[in-house]
Amino acid sequence: MNEMKGVILAAGKGSRLYPVTHIIPKPLLPLANRMTLAYAFEKLKEMGVHEICVVVGENENAMKSALGDGSAFGVSLSYVRQPEPKGLAHAVSFTKDFVAGDSFVLYLGDAIYSDGFVELKKRFEESGCANLNLVKSVPDPERFGVANVEGDRIVKLVEKPKQPESNLAMAGLYFFGPQIWEILPDLQPSGRGEFEITDAIQMLIDRGNLVLAGLYEGAWFDTGTLDSFLETSAYLSNNGPMVDETATVTGSIGDKVVIGAGATVECESIEDSVVLPGAKVKVNGTIRHSVFGGEVELGESAQSVILHGDYKG
Ligand code: G1P
Repeated sequence: MNEMKGVILAAGKGSRLYPVTHIIPKPLLPLANRMTLAYAFEKLKEMGVHEICVVVGENENAMKSALGDGSAFGVSLSYVRQPEPKGLAHAVSFTKDFVAGDSFVLYLGDAIYSDGFVELKKRFEESGCANLNLVKSVPDPERFGVANVEGDRIVKLVEKPKQPESNLAMAGLYFFGPQIWEILPDLQPSGRGEFEITDAIQMLIDRGNLVLAGLYEGAWFDTGTLDSFLETSAYLSNNGPMVDETATVTGSIGDKVVIGAGATVECESIEDSVVLPGAKVKVNGTIRHSVFGGEVELGESAQSVILHGDYKG
């Protein structure tokens, strides 16, 4: 049997983190001073997955120049481009040649997990199922794909249901065998006009394939919004402050602060914020719950802002 392959979806625009993500694609943003995707590579390598295809979009050039062939991260990378953002299943469809009939693990590029998946991968392989999905009990299942689970099987899946029938969210990590390739050509767009991975998995179930749930109890974050980005950053830096030794800070530094290499920060105080590597930030007041990159100068305190001095939009 060939080694399992990895597919990372990283084509999104990261629009909820504009303008920073106009300059740096979301999967490349530093979290606790390491690139977001470095955490994914680590989890994949731990599972013995080294051959990875990254699905990119408009960020293609920036992604390729930052990640290269992957050797700097101990993985072997190739890329495919999703020409337009039409859903997760649409993105996966472009990786068929890369996967070439092997099984693969699908990883969302903005997901961060505390725990590893070595056991889950083993379960997928030993069960011989068509698909095994990470599910996690959450307080707000309506924001996610939601799974009805009986025993260890997923029997029904609904994408972002208004009235969830369970509290088990699809948690962004999926193992697939080759059966998925028979499904994707038949998939229809959802109400939001996207080819949903949840709908593809429902079709696997409907056509009699064995689809399993892997219950996950560790921490799970996504980095998509200012709030969730800062929350993930704080988690990974043990609530900080984490100030790179080459950064210079004038002002008091509170909790949940991460300041990158070569950055300079002048302010009264800073808390719950991220300053990207190389940034030059001068704020006449306090900085709270914000992300700064590039050269930024503000005459008053900053709260809940995302700014990048290189963005001339
Ligand atoms: C996607 C999936 C959803 C899943 C979620 C996990 O949602 O469609 O089923 O629960 O990722 O993060 P999206 O983030 O595209 O809205």
